[in-house]
Amino acid sequence: MPGTRILVLSDLHANATALDAVLAAAEGRWDVCVCLGDVVGYGPDPSEVTGRIRAMGATTIRGNHDKAISGIMDTVDFNPVARAAVDWTRAQLSAENLNWLAELHPGPFATNDIVLIHGAYQDEDEYVFTPSQAMDGLLDSSSAVTFFGHTHHQGGFSFLDTTVELLQIRPRATDSFTALRLEPGRRYLLNPGSVGQPRDGDPRAAFAIADLEHQIVEFWRVPYDITAVQERMRSARLPEPLAQRLALGR
Ligand SMILES: [Fe+2]
Repeated sequence: MPGTRILVLSDLHANATALDAVLAAAEGRWDVCVCLGDVVGYGPDPSEVTGRIRAMGATTIRGNHDKAISGIMDTVDFNPVARAAVDWTRAQLSAENLNWLAELHPGPFATNDIVLIHGAYQDEDEYVFTPSQAMDGLLDSSSAVTFFGHTHHQGGFSFLDTTVELLQIRPRATDSFTALRLEPGRRYLLNPGSVGQPRDGDPRAAFAIADLEHQIVEFWRVPYDITAVQERMRSARLPEPLAQRLALGR
């Protein structure tokens, strides 16, 4: 649909307070919502966040945590802290929510003239941090604009002719958003950042809004009550490093 503004969420990681802050900031600015996976895992609010994403009707693909928690992937590649959170999360979720997670689409998934992936284009569990890792997605995607998650780093890559460019497109600490103008002929692999557990040094919740008709993608950061989330994590006896990293954004 022309003029559709797409709210792009990724790596929510069961953080309902961060999701609330994101939805408040984005209110009235979007028409459809897409979600790049890791709805749950690490955070204290798996049922609330799953319920909210389902109620919003967000087109959602699966992340590695969604797969591990719903039992369709084993946790041998998870570190002990992540595995403890997987076990805790699985015990919190209803059979119906676990079933919804198990049945999420794998990426790549095309919708609204964009393509959604969780990790790398050819492997949903691989990380894309470098231009060479971005090459597959930039070349192989069926759309000029592809969104990915998994790294929890807001930003991305663009490609023209034979050159991949790393895009430094995070808003400054004093700004809520920064806009990227898409150039005709250029291909993009863009990461909205993580709603629920940012790791790029900025602890604010991250998301993006894409307006392909006007060829603009906005990259947003919004503060939220991190202390409140940490308190719920400690009450739930989730591993302490998971609580501490929220404040660091690492
Ligand atoms: Fe994640």
